[in-house]
Amino acid sequence: MRTDTPQTIYRKDYTAPSYLVDTVELGFDLDPARTVVANRMTVRRNPASAQREIELYGEDIELVTLRLNGRTLGEGDYVIEGTLLRIPNAPEEATLEIETICVPESNTTLSGLYTSNGSFYTQCEAEGFRRITYFPDRPDVMARFTVMLRADKDKYPVLLSNGNLIEEGDLDNGRHYALWEDPFKKPSYLFALVAARLVCQEENFELADGRTALLQVWVEEGNLDKTDYAMQSLKHSIRWDEERWNLELDLDRFMIVAVGDFNMGAMENKGLNIFNTKFVLANPRVATDVDFQGIEAVVGHEYFHNWTGNRVTCRDWFQLSLKEGLTVFRDQEFSADMIGTNTGRAVTRIDQVRTLRQAQFPEDAGPMAHPVRPDSFVEINNFYTVTVYEKGAEVVRMYQTLLGRDGFRKGMDLYFQRHDEQAVTCDDFRLAMADANGRDLTQFERWYSQAGTPVVQAETRWDEQAQTYTLRLVQSCPPTPGQAEKLPFHIPVAIGLLGRDGRDLPLTVDGKVHGKDGATTAVLELTEADQTFVFTGVTEQPTPSILRDFSAPVILKHGYSDAELVHLFSHDSDPVNRWEAGQRLAMSRLLKLAGQVAAAGNVVDRLDLDDTFVDAMRKILVDDTLDPSFREQALLLPTESMIADQLDVVDPLAIHLARQFVRADIGARLRTELLAQYDANQTPGEYSPDAESIGKRALKNLALAYLNAAPDEASLALAQKQFDGATNMTDRVAALSALVHARAPAAADALQRFYDEFQGEALVVDKWFAMQAAAPTTDVARVRELMTHKAFTLRNPNRARSLVSTFCAGNAVGFHAPDGSGYGFWAEQVIALDALNPQVASRLARAMDRWRRYTPDLQAHMKRALQQVAGQAKLSNDVREVVSKALAN
Ligand code: TRP
Ligand code: ZN
Repeated sequence: MRTDTPQTIYRKDYTAPSYLVDTVELGFDLDPARTVVANRMTVRRNPASAQREIELYGEDIELVTLRLNGRTLGEGDYVIEGTLLRIPNAPEEATLEIETICVPESNTTLSGLYTSNGSFYTQCEAEGFRRITYFPDRPDVMARFTVMLRADKDKYPVLLSNGNLIEEGDLDNGRHYALWEDPFKKPSYLFALVAARLVCQEENFELADGRTALLQVWVEEGNLDKTDYAMQSLKHSIRWDEERWNLELDLDRFMIVAVGDFNMGAMENKGLNIFNTKFVLANPRVATDVDFQGIEAVVGHEYFHNWTGNRVTCRDWFQLSLKEGLTVFRDQEFSADMIGTNTGRAVTRIDQVRTLRQAQFPEDAGPMAHPVRPDSFVEINNFYTVTVYEKGAEVVRMYQTLLGRDGFRKGMDLYFQRHDEQAVTCDDFRLAMADANGRDLTQFERWYSQAGTPVVQAETRWDEQAQTYTLRLVQSCPPTPGQAEKLPFHIPVAIGLLGRDGRDLPLTVDGKVHGKDGATTAVLELTEADQTFVFTGVTEQPTPSILRDFSAPVILKHGYSDAELVHLFSHDSDPVNRWEAGQRLAMSRLLKLAGQVAAAGNVVDRLDLDDTFVDAMRKILVDDTLDPSFREQALLLPTESMIADQLDVVDPLAIHLARQFVRADIGARLRTELLAQYDANQTPGEYSPDAESIGKRALKNLALAYLNAAPDEASLALAQKQFDGATNMTDRVAALSALVHARAPAAADALQRFYDEFQGEALVVDKWFAMQAAAPTTDVARVRELMTHKAFTLRNPNRARSLVSTFCAGNAVGFHAPDGSGYGFWAEQVIALDALNPQVASRLARAMDRWRRYTPDLQAHMKRALQQVAGQAKLSNDVREVVSKALAN
């Protein structure tokens, strides 16, 4: 907690580390109230640095002794300024011995060494290792680690760290020890230890080269019935990395540990991944389909980091997307390959597009907008963002789109060949891609350096005489903080042309014949601000399907008529653009209706939804040739925040009412069809989280939600029946949520029964809080009431997020109450959380990012709340950066 002005750190100021560390030996005497850490490291001057002082970082730890080559250093021998400890006049090579003390039990930040439910865990990325010992805690210092753990054997029977277990045994006083050695050099952010009372599911798994590795999933007792899916996902991940990228597990042992108090999803510590329980624990009784999918993705993600992040790591934190964008891309491809079918892949792609529009586009248009490779930051923890992760993944995907799958694979191979065991930059990755393919990717660099979502405007003209079809693409990018002007991006635009019969036309563009092997999609390379492409031999007026498979993270504008959109929605061979056509149809209605509602003073009166739209929806709904998973996506309306993103002045209530009207109207007008699909998509028998069953449940439960958007006795009874008879959590929460959102009289009773049945399952209690927090009937008073529930605590991130963050970021109606009460609540909670856990507080703080877009009355209230937080004398750098950027002009 700082009171001084936070410092901005710039990418351009990067300098090489003054000293390198070869080996580190750590000794831990673990005690919740007073842990003693002994650190012996061998260091040597870095020939690449002009700086001659040893520089170590330390934070919130008590320095007991500091010895250099056996000599204890005194006051005059070193300087401590803030978190930096400098030792001037150091020799070329030295052994440093440092003893420090920390207090894990009072570490509520969950960064560094902390306790959760009485056991010890660590979280070191990005800069948590300095909260454990003094160290050159930066990712370009890679060292070999040996770790000795000592702790009470009764309380902490399991002692884990990175790499291989070398030795273990008993000590005096009921204590025991374990010695671990990591054979690979690594940056300090990948260090981890666990000392806990845990049990594991384990298995020997054969690797491609015939070696076997010991795989373990560690959880608290009582949760061993929820580890199967994580273990299975881990095995699939290992296999997939071998098969698709020829990358093998490089350790004899790979461990996953689940912990209930955790700031994010999971952490890729070498050989010892530590996970939020949310991304490990699952069985049909407690976890939904979405939970199962999340586990597969996150287990994959962390495992894939072993190569993209650990073996090749980041030079500095500005390069974060080097590992995160690439690893998200890899986990996306993994999830898609696990489904295997074309539509299945497309549905995962549609999900990715939704995430971008829901979260990344708004970020890119707000006060925290930053390039995929930021130029500056105050607090690096604020830059684990959807831009660095998801847009970063889109940037990686664009290489694959431009170079082809084989070309991309060549680039990956060259990247590992060049940079294994190095700490490198995004430029190094781009150069590997360019060199492996003999391509100039200079302009492509702008995807890393320019923030903001590019807009591509498309104009088309068919010349009947010449049988040409001309596509003009004009790109621009709005200004973002610190970047007024943007240069043109290198944008892959995948395109196909549909004939009147709905089939793809053959493609010849600028003299080049595309569509070899029957492919009818061309990838155009848009590099100019204004560029024209000419298709020849076009014998009829086509309907253009532009940006197929969402080939670039841009906003595509084109003056599509309703008829064209209905044509695409009915026929496009590219499922992503087929879905997209439906989204465009829906969005135009939603925007118009939201305007009408606002003009009428937020009264829903005489609204009308046209037959064209309802018929298009009906056609997709009943088309049994389409996968249920695709139909579900096609019928999902854009979210309230996606609608808000299209408007200059946002009236959240008007948007909500308009969207609810559309949902209710669909529910009423398609009642027969929805009921039929509800019945047709039942999944009787044993629960299985396979793609087909997940798709059926999704469509069935969407039907239930639509039916209850215009509830009648029958639809309510259906929801109640599903709630009572559900044999899995997916169906149970879908039914409960339908009852809650329909304001059913039975909802309160159902909520109570749900709580009673699952109160012993923390992750289900989170769902229980979140569902109520998101209900449009929930206002601040109700949230405050829920906060007094015995199961609520701000100290557990999952719980705090489930209630407080869900309300502030996922309940527009309650949060944006006209009296500003939601914002007052937000300020209060940000301040309270900041005193405990700045990372969690800072994420909540971002709920106000887009405050300038709201109606003047709301804006005034929001500004006051932001100023209230900014006016706090004591505030973390994390929250300070977010609120001051929000308030800056
Ligand atoms: N590197 C982790 C991942 O991508 C995420 C991470 C970064 C993290 N910082 C963290 C997790 C702090 C927990 C706490 O999966
Ligand atoms: Zn990651």
